[in-house]
Amino acid sequence: MANHLLRKINLSLPLCRRYSTEVRKATLIPGDGIGPEISAAVQKIFEAAHVPIEWESVDVTPVRGPDGKFGIPQSAIDSMNKNKVGLKGPLMTPVGKGHRSLNLALRKEFNLYANVRPCRSLEGYPTLYTDVDVVTVRENTEGEYSGIEHEIVDGVVQSIKLITEDASKRVAEFAFEFAKKEGREKVTAVHKANIMRMSDGLFLRCCREAAEKYPEVKFEEKYLDTVCLNMVQDPSRFDVLVMPNLYGDILSDMCAGLVGGLGLTPSGNIGINGALFESVHGTAPDIAGKDAANPTALLLSAVMMLRYLELGSYGDKIEKACFEVIKEGKFRTGDLGGKAKCSEFTNAICEKVA
Ligand SMILES: NC(=O)c1ccc[n+]([C@@H]2O[C@H](COP(=O)([O-])OP(=O)(O)OC[C@H]3O[C@@H](n4cnc5c(N)ncnc54)[C@H](O)[C@@H]3O)[C@@H](O)[C@H]2O)c1
Repeated sequence: MANHLLRKINLSLPLCRRYSTEVRKATLIPGDGIGPEISAAVQKIFEAAHVPIEWESVDVTPVRGPDGKFGIPQSAIDSMNKNKVGLKGPLMTPVGKGHRSLNLALRKEFNLYANVRPCRSLEGYPTLYTDVDVVTVRENTEGEYSGIEHEIVDGVVQSIKLITEDASKRVAEFAFEFAKKEGREKVTAVHKANIMRMSDGLFLRCCREAAEKYPEVKFEEKYLDTVCLNMVQDPSRFDVLVMPNLYGDILSDMCAGLVGGLGLTPSGNIGINGALFESVHGTAPDIAGKDAANPTALLLSAVMMLRYLELGSYGDKIEKACFEVIKEGKFRTGDLGGKAKCSEFTNAICEKVA
């Protein structure tokens, strides 16, 4: 197996250092659509592998607060604040109905400033590319997703892309620190500072300043359009990429496509005082309730969570079992060209980790 496939993503913080036998509580947000099915699959696999995690399941359906505005229920906020770590299934965002995205609200509420998505080629599941090993680090709290929009006059709306020095600095420094810790060679800052001279210009300046503090990590800066072109031509020329919010949203999905799709891609939202791990796909309403979903993305997100909690040995065991089941090909879900149900795939992993 190629060396890079063995590389582990470890986001652990000193804050989370614990003895591995201690049972840790983690908040679980099962989510909507296929969320409850894939969350149940993860719980079953954790149980089979005897992972010392106790799940605290919470509902994040918005409730009306005293100010009349809808927001995340206090019980869910309290649970995350207490446990400092959580796993989240996909949440539905109604389009154009005046709702704010609950995903966004969670990121803001817990100041989860960096979204980390590793995309690696999977041995045994061939795609057009065999050598993908990139990590996108996306600024998660502002940029195009700051939610500041208004109508100036009839038929003219304005959406503000907010870029601050503080948020840009901390995500840039996170990307370099991550690269250093993981033994990665290069950080690429992705931007359009030729067009958005002030906003992307500020983001880029913060990346350049962070680069100076990490001389052992190579630094390059590239336009977003060039990165898209180069990524599909030869993904192996990229390593860690850091970028503002919207670019990260799009580019990380593109990278997921290079390794087999959204059903396989995990992610971690890292904050100052904790972290929330989530699959990057949506609620998949077309297959919800049909026992057809692939739980791999949420399972690998849960593996990232275990490494964050310094329970990496459990994570390694589960990841290995999951990759083996995919490689063997007997129990692949529909998105991977197979016919297996979510429950059959889950059971096959359980047998290997037990
Ligand atoms: N992080 C999140 O919570 C998140 C992310 C993206 C979209 N969403 C929400 O999800 C809803 C549906 O979005 P969408 O249809 O654009 O994207 P989607 O990711 O739900 O689905 C896109 C396609 O991928 C398939 N797919 C996704 N995950 C899969 C899995 N685990 N196993 C097998 N197939 C899978 C679906 O069946 C569908 O064909 C929307 O309300 C959207 O706002 C939430």
